[in-house]
Amino acid sequence: MTVTVFPSTSDFFAEVGDIDLSQQLDPADLSAIEEAFWTYAVLVFPDQHLNHDQHLAFAANFGPLETKLAVYREGNRARTPAEIEDLSNLDLDEEIKQTDNRIRLMRLANRLWHTDSTFKHVPAKISMLYGREIAPIGGQTEFADMRAAYDALSDEMKARLDGLVAEHSYRASRARVGFSDFSPEEDVALPPVPQVMVRTIPESGRKSLYVASHVGRVLGMPRDEGDQLVDELIAHATQRQFVHTHRWRQHDLVMWDDRCTMHRGLAYDDERWRRDIQRATVSDVANSCEQAGITIDENWTAAE
Ligand code: OGA
Ligand code: MN
Repeated sequence: MTVTVFPSTSDFFAEVGDIDLSQQLDPADLSAIEEAFWTYAVLVFPDQHLNHDQHLAFAANFGPLETKLAVYREGNRARTPAEIEDLSNLDLDEEIKQTDNRIRLMRLANRLWHTDSTFKHVPAKISMLYGREIAPIGGQTEFADMRAAYDALSDEMKARLDGLVAEHSYRASRARVGFSDFSPEEDVALPPVPQVMVRTIPESGRKSLYVASHVGRVLGMPRDEGDQLVDELIAHATQRQFVHTHRWRQHDLVMWDDRCTMHRGLAYDDERWRRDIQRATVSDVANSCEQAGITIDENWTAAE
């Protein structure tokens, strides 16, 4: 039996059944998943029972895996392997993190609209988030379809965005939640990187907005004007008609295309409820400017 794809929306979000992701996938199932993924951009696989190795093996079908950022390392111990980001609210002793826990404070930026790792030179391509323990109330994850949002822009705005590049940084999104307590070493390790503001997704040929709360300035634009443009685009893209809210069930694996979606975690009482969700992330093939044939010189000027 091959996989069952059950659309939740016409072309953005689907559930996938009749598949056990803990097993090695046969090529027909893998292609069916890929085909659905390039259409929908977000897939949910309910009732999956995965250990870390199985989670990573599934992710590795789609490309090379990211490793955890140094800012999230807690000494020599860790709840998850290097290739699995621990998005839980639990500490190394499996207890709920203290209110002033540094990782907790940094992770509050996940409540802002973003797409993963655009602050890395080579950003994320696909995120696979697995729900081990779910908060009983709150803590949904919302997704915005940046292809549909692009399609709905005016022709004037599409022309204005053509060829524009923005600077993304980890610092920019943390600044938005009031976190700036980085060591000099951390600062050096997380330099700003350029990313295009509109990208074309090779597998579907669709164009997509590419912005996130990681954006600092827009190249070639006064700071105020760039900030205003980014705020306007995020507000546009996150209107209700482009957004789907996922209410987690334990053992859901949710997989999304970081190149053409934004997401955010809705608030929950993280000092009361345990929420253990963990992410494997596939890297994109190159920086988005490089993929678009745009070179950025050392003065941060885009030259096509
Ligand atoms: C992520 C993320 C949001 C959430 O896993 O990349 O942003 O719902 N998660 O916790
Ligand atoms: Mn994220």
